[in-house]
Amino acid sequence: MTRRKDSTVDFPNSSRESSKKPSRRRGRDVPNTQLLVLEPIGYPFRLRGDPKAIGVETESPELFSDYAREQWLGSFVHEGMFLFDRYVMPDFAFRAKKVVPDNSIVAKSTRVRLEKEKTRVPSLYRRPTLEDVIGHEDAKRKCRLLLKYLESPHQFGEWAPRAVLFHGPPGTGKTLTARAVANEAQADIFITKASDLIGVHVGDGGRKISTLFESARESAPSIIFIDELDAIGLARTFQSIRGDVSEVVTALLGEMDQTVEESGVILIGATNAVQMIDSALRSRFDTVFEFGLPNEVDRLSILKLYSSRLPIRLEMDLHQLASLTEGLSGRDLRDRLLKESLHVAISKDMNQIPKKTVLEILNKLKKKTTIDYAI
Ligand SMILES: Nc1ncnc2c1ncn2[C@@H]1O[C@H](COP(=O)(O)OP(=O)(O)O)[C@@H](O)[C@H]1O
Ligand SMILES: [Mg+2]
Repeated sequence: MTRRKDSTVDFPNSSRESSKKPSRRRGRDVPNTQLLVLEPIGYPFRLRGDPKAIGVETESPELFSDYAREQWLGSFVHEGMFLFDRYVMPDFAFRAKKVVPDNSIVAKSTRVRLEKEKTRVPSLYRRPTLEDVIGHEDAKRKCRLLLKYLESPHQFGEWAPRAVLFHGPPGTGKTLTARAVANEAQADIFITKASDLIGVHVGDGGRKISTLFESARESAPSIIFIDELDAIGLARTFQSIRGDVSEVVTALLGEMDQTVEESGVILIGATNAVQMIDSALRSRFDTVFEFGLPNEVDRLSILKLYSSRLPIRLEMDLHQLASLTEGLSGRDLRDRLLKESLHVAISKDMNQIPKKTVLEILNKLKKKTTIDYAI
């Protein structure tokens, strides 16, 4: 499945609306949503053989409401429609169980409630381990050390690892690795995108950062994962343009310095653009790991791993496929090549995925990738 710009089913390009004015959609006035009740549904489908996994719960209804409102702000909603999560559990579906008034637009004043699920939701969500990460041996070695630290922070004293930075092109396994560490350590992981930490008002960003670190310290051992760090880590020359960004960097530097050795809190940062990260911020990371695109050997392992989980057989030599897929990331291989091939085969009622289908999709993918880079 390709990534959507907007995660509601009906209106992929709906714009964000202000909370005050009723919005105009196709020439009609559409009211703002007062209440939206979401029922967790699960992932659209599950690969055969995947263990039945988690449902959804929240400890803070207010936090869930804020989280949900932020991501669907400006979306048109009606009862019965599906909304797909984009951040913490990408593609996880919720059904709009109740919308007051029906056919309205999510606004800043909207309250969003999570309805308790009645049965446990079967889902695709497997909890990853470091074994699931292919390649990136240095990063994994460091992660195993982080696990030791999270197990017994006191042993490390002043030599505690504090923060690691993953950088590299999208889809190379940075988030996967962070999740694997959290899972193996049975630690809470606080996942956030740097752009979400930049507030609308002065002081918002700083407050969000201190709340984030406070919560992480309270539930230590824990991991704070800040994705797309370049959004706030902008080199200072750029920061003068955006005061709110430099406020967030300052707050982040302050929190990182205050987090004491034994706190049991680790920060993992990820970025596609390491050269954009402010040098003061970058120097706070003990280690910087590059997540490069997979080489042929790693592509083969990635293809083996994911094709073994396909519900129908892939009729193609994986060595050959690995040699033809130079330049594709792990995500491209899994989500754009294997998944698309599977979908095409299923929609044609085939009980295997023929080589021809895979090669056709690969060709389209390569053309698209070339265009992407040309822009
Ligand atoms: N090295 C890898 N090993 C195994 N799977 C990978 C790897 N890289 C990417 N993937 C697959 O692609 C998905 C997206 O990767 P992700 O960790 O979100 O990338 P990033 O955070 O670097 O943009 C992963 O969930 C996984 O299914
Ligand atoms: Mg990521």
